[in-house]
Amino acid sequence: MDLTISRATTLKDRPEDSDLTFGTLFTDHMFNMDYNPEKGWHNPRIEPYTNIDMDPSTMVLHYGQAIFEGLKAYRTDTGDVQLFRPKENFARFNRSARTMCIPEFDEGFALDALKQLIEIEKEWVPKTTGTSLYIRPTIIAMDPFVGVRASHTYRFFIILSPVGAYYKEGFNPVKIWVTKEHVRAVRGGVGHVKTAGNYAASLLAGDKAQKAGYSQVLWLDGVEQKYVEEVGSMNIFFVFNDELVTPELSGSILPGITRDSVLALATSWGIKTTERKISIDEIFDAHKNGSLKEVFGTGTAAVVSPVGVVKYGDDIITIGNGEVGPVSNRFFSALTDIQYGKTEAPAGWIEKV
Ligand code: COI
Repeated sequence: MDLTISRATTLKDRPEDSDLTFGTLFTDHMFNMDYNPEKGWHNPRIEPYTNIDMDPSTMVLHYGQAIFEGLKAYRTDTGDVQLFRPKENFARFNRSARTMCIPEFDEGFALDALKQLIEIEKEWVPKTTGTSLYIRPTIIAMDPFVGVRASHTYRFFIILSPVGAYYKEGFNPVKIWVTKEHVRAVRGGVGHVKTAGNYAASLLAGDKAQKAGYSQVLWLDGVEQKYVEEVGSMNIFFVFNDELVTPELSGSILPGITRDSVLALATSWGIKTTERKISIDEIFDAHKNGSLKEVFGTGTAAVVSPVGVVKYGDDIITIGNGEVGPVSNRFFSALTDIQYGKTEAPAGWIEKV
């Protein structure tokens, strides 16, 4: 497949790094590619950023057959631009495609196209530490049809957004709220892939948490509502004494790339890591007996997000005096140092653009 490139004739004003928030501004160009059963994935192109023209009956609007990814490009001190573990994102994207009955794509081709898109948009990659270019690959069902089945046609697109911190708290502890009233994902469902509906399903509980003064929901499993699964849209980690523990990938948890990176770094540093079921009662008991040292979320958007307060029913606990603990700090520094090219990365983690 040949990638065609058409350039925008007028360019947008680029923001100052200090004005960047998350996900509100998009660059001048995007990648597009279409699928139909006759041609497969075809017509890959980089073109000016523009609206997607669709019939009101387009399937994605009705049944949510949509998948996406989130990854970032970082600018190093020498001015280079680099991606953090992008192959993992495209591999997960194809796993999401299989789960959502979407045709798979060529991962190597998509990564090359992304690199070319970023090359064109290089000036949009911000320079200040804490900022980056957020990359959002997406595939949506395009058949104009309101019967329920998998679509026959699809659009694959990639858009780019220069970003600052994801949470208004920045790298500061957030307060989280445990709910038994709502679940994010169920056994046999689609919680393990990055599909739009998982995020839609999280909104009402997220809203209730915010109204109660908390920034995130701590999700419990959908079967017994007993075991911790995720926090907001991130994976979650606990430090019990010297051990790092995270929920095992049960089928309803997203296999985060930052999650995997934290586990790999911890192992390389000689920290004991365990992936297992963790009940919410165990967490409150561990707080009571002093063994719960730290709690933090991990994700592409925030990297590491320390948790300061957890509310469960009428019980509220404060972790580490509500301050950022040394383990969260160490992971945040190590990951961001790798992402910004300040330290050497484990083999295969960094792709230069
Ligand atoms: C993440 O990167 O942690 C997320 O999942 C947030 C994203 C959906 C904006």
